[in-house]
Amino acid sequence: MRYYPVFLDLADEPCVVLGEGKLAAEKAAGLREAGAAVRVIASKDYRRGDLAGARLVFDASDDPAVNRESWAEAEAAGILINVVDRPAQCRFIAPAIVRRDPLLIAISTEGQSPFLASTLRARLERWLGREWGPFTALIGRTRRELRERGIPIQQQTKIYKRLLASDIRKMLRNDDISGAQHAAAAISRADLGAGGRVALVGAGPGDPDLLTVRARELLGDADFVLHDALVSAETLALCGPEARLEDVGKRAGRRSARQADITARLIELARQGHLVVRLKGGDPFVFGRGGEEMRDLIAAGVDVVVVPGVSAAIAAPAAAGIPLTMRGVASSIAVTTGEGNAPAARLQQLAAAADTLVVLMAHGKLEGIASTLAEPLGRNRPAAVISSATLPEQEVVTGTLGDIAERVARSGLLPPATLVVGEVAAQAASNLDQVVDLASFG
Ligand SMILES: C[S@@+](CC[C@H](N)C(=O)[O-])C[C@H]1O[C@@H](n2cnc3c(N)ncnc32)[C@H](O)[C@@H]1O
Repeated sequence: MRYYPVFLDLADEPCVVLGEGKLAAEKAAGLREAGAAVRVIASKDYRRGDLAGARLVFDASDDPAVNRESWAEAEAAGILINVVDRPAQCRFIAPAIVRRDPLLIAISTEGQSPFLASTLRARLERWLGREWGPFTALIGRTRRELRERGIPIQQQTKIYKRLLASDIRKMLRNDDISGAQHAAAAISRADLGAGGRVALVGAGPGDPDLLTVRARELLGDADFVLHDALVSAETLALCGPEARLEDVGKRAGRRSARQADITARLIELARQGHLVVRLKGGDPFVFGRGGEEMRDLIAAGVDVVVVPGVSAAIAAPAAAGIPLTMRGVASSIAVTTGEGNAPAARLQQLAAAADTLVVLMAHGKLEGIASTLAEPLGRNRPAAVISSATLPEQEVVTGTLGDIAERVARSGLLPPATLVVGEVAAQAASNLDQVVDLASFG
């Protein structure tokens, strides 16, 4: 690291800007915004000695002779100087800034790439809306008040987390200042030891980029994350550094934690006042037992929030280039599971009723399911199996109900896998080569 980052307090401090162009005007305006006493000197008027007493100097003259002179003068006097666009003549560099006063974010690539710095700034600008300014100020006020009340730091941290996870930023975005203040006051006075909360959160099909913004934020804020085995390591890496992770999912060769034990653990942690994320693959309410967990948590008096996720039922076909509906081809979808003892008649009814049938958890029983479906639909009905959709190891096998089980067995394709049956499945073979992954899209 070549540069040492600081924020300077230049209020009423003498600063000098050399030059007369647009850049000089911008530098002067920036310094004035920070309250500095700015003197602007045109290139032709600059004389050695003009910098005396200055805290900070920008030389935006674009005149090599002035640059040399100003640099020599500032160096001799120990004044911080930035000769614009001359890195060798800069004692400091000006970062790209995201300004949400009092929140200020500075970005530097040590001059390596102004493009990256400004791209990152644009991303942060979009991510941190203008509400972050008043939100930061509100947190600051809350902090002062908590300190006055002598609230221990651990308790304070809990309150900040609660404020961060609340709707307060949304209120501020909608200019509901008094609503935000009331909500903040209520949170900072609540007995946080009494009621934690559980968020039932969908992790999507695997690729962490398919998490919702809300899911990402909750993972970052959670005290505990109880997750399924299917949730990818990259997704879990988005958890905050202090979050405690508990794997409660099924693993090959290991029995899953009993549902009753998982629910009991969620209730126990919530009652200790923690923010708990129950992270489930796909969507929490699609074959994820989220419904039962929600029911039991509510019965236990625990606050629950549900964050939908992108279900594999939708994502797996999409990632394989299979449109679930398509004008003139398919206008209805049924989603079911191959697990359990669903009677064959039920599966056949569903298949006959919908144009496209999606079967989750079908991998181990593919042969039986395909032959059951072939009765009403015929052996030539197109079918596709997508494994590890949206992940680097994604694989797609296409065929018909007559041969899909054998093709999958030959390919050695591994679970998790989703079966799609219907005319749309024929699209996979022709679309797959054209549907590129995001890495090569650009
Ligand atoms: C217990 S279910 C949970 C479904 C999940 N709640 C959802 O909405 O995606 C697990 C099944 O989802 C499907 N699945 C999950 N992730 C998948 C992926 N990345 N690719 C293909 N299928 C997947 C498989 O059929 C797997 O057996």
